[in-house]
Amino acid sequence: MTTDKPAILFVCLGNICRSPLAEAAFRLEAERAGLDVEVDSAGTGAWHAGEPPDRRAQAVARRNGVDISGYRARQVEPADFARFSHIVALDGDNLAVLQRLRPRDGAALSLLLDHVAGRMGEAVADPYYGAEAGFDTTWTDVTMGARDLVRALMR
Ligand code: 4NP
Repeated sequence: MTTDKPAILFVCLGNICRSPLAEAAFRLEAERAGLDVEVDSAGTGAWHAGEPPDRRAQAVARRNGVDISGYRARQVEPADFARFSHIVALDGDNLAVLQRLRPRDGAALSLLLDHVAGRMGEAVADPYYGAEAGFDTTWTDVTMGARDLVRALMR
């Protein structure tokens, strides 16, 4: 990155559950903190490209005051490693894919929960095949990660 403004890309598998929620929670926390930042999300897979977030993800975001119905899924692309200063994976599988794709000098990679004290190396569990309540756990996890990531970027 040539500018000082941070640019963060959140990445999960489908870009319809966890990473759109991470993007939404991060937007909320950045706005609260007055942090000027570019934010987006993407998936390592392309199966859901062009689709809005899963309706259960839209619902949990709505319950927490955010409308994500306008988000559209997309796959990570090579240009993302130059466009973003930080690419933040939701789980270890996502991180491994990103590590293989990353060019030298590309965006810094991390796991979202690496930014939360005591949760280094932990995954944000995939709620896609589980019960609706799993999405509340996802929201709690991405909010903790977003809050601590915003704090780190403000320093
Ligand atoms: P996400 O959840 O990676 O959090 O968006 C998933 C969405 C779709 C699939 C898997 C996980 N899928 O296999 O279609």
